[in-house]
Amino acid sequence: MAQQIAVVGSGYMGGGIAQVFALAGARVALADVSAEVAERNLARLLDESEAYIADGLFPAGATETLRENLWAAPSIEAAVADADFVVEAVPEVLDIKHATLSRISAAARRDAVIGSNTSTISIAALAVAVDAPERFLGVHFANPAPFIPGVELIPHAGTDPAAVETARSTVAASGKQTATVKDVTGFVMNRLQYALFHEAALLAEEGIASPEDIDTIVRSTFGFRLPLFGPFAVADMAGLDVYAFCYQQLQTTFPERFKTPRILEDLVTAGKLGTKTGAGFLNVPAERVPELLAYRNKAYVMMQRLLDELGPAPLN
Ligand SMILES: NC(=O)c1ccc[n+]([C@@H]2O[C@H](COP(=O)([O-])OP(=O)(O)OC[C@H]3O[C@@H](n4cnc5c(N)ncnc54)[C@H](O)[C@@H]3O)[C@@H](O)[C@H]2O)c1
Repeated sequence: MAQQIAVVGSGYMGGGIAQVFALAGARVALADVSAEVAERNLARLLDESEAYIADGLFPAGATETLRENLWAAPSIEAAVADADFVVEAVPEVLDIKHATLSRISAAARRDAVIGSNTSTISIAALAVAVDAPERFLGVHFANPAPFIPGVELIPHAGTDPAAVETARSTVAASGKQTATVKDVTGFVMNRLQYALFHEAALLAEEGIASPEDIDTIVRSTFGFRLPLFGPFAVADMAGLDVYAFCYQQLQTTFPERFKTPRILEDLVTAGKLGTKTGAGFLNVPAERVPELLAYRNKAYVMMQRLLDELGPAPLN
């Protein structure tokens, strides 16, 4: 990556995002409320890198790469002046975001793409503070940014597709996987994460199972599949007719909460039942199904080996 990047807000997320881009070879400016805070956070990121190397999490030489590529800017304006790509990661407070984005967009080059790492604020609500908002979008890293591979890209209605492509290629060049989603509350990541958490919390509240037992079920059953397959791949492999039947059962107790989604009903009505019919949500070609099942089985066995090697999380 031969790009100039600026990260504004060099705290927990901004620091991790800066490490990601700098390790990938970009020159990355850190800006914060003052030069002193940016300097302090730069020193923290270098110390953190040493600890990560010692634990085998960053490659040998990472700290030298970060020392070469990261710099603490004296101001937001100085950080963004030459940047091709800017990521804003200041606190999740609308006024602070607005003031910061306004300063960033006034000082950045006109062709610089500006991303916000907001988790919950609508991108359109942030875009009002951006001068030339067609170059602005959400670029949502997950925590901890150096180690979680996926990033949501969230254009607002007025974002130029060229800006989305610049963000996509820049983030992809850092080694992350991207997915582009619409600007709706919760985007995709938090809407799904909170849907699961919401049901889990209700189950615990109703005394159906303890938080410990619910966590055990999630991570050792359906959650065990999730690093390999998202919900649509899982449903296609299980059979969409099976899913439709499960919905009917759930509706006997929860008629509203588990109304059969129309997108599922339509596929079942059309006889598209997933991998067993060669068509479903993902249209896996019939001839690749044996290969897919072999991959699945191998993946689950290797996943269990990894978990055995790691041992249980130190939660108690
Ligand atoms: N922490 C998470 O798990 C997580 C995950 C995804 C997204 N996010 C989002 O990332 C953003 C940052 O969150 P965080 O957890 O890194 O917060 P944080 O408090 O660790 O970092 C925020 C940084 O912004 C700096 N800052 C405050 N006001 C500023 C200003 N006016 N100008 C420049 N810098 C300023 C602070 O000094 C601090 O260094 C938020 O929008 C948050 O919603 C957080």
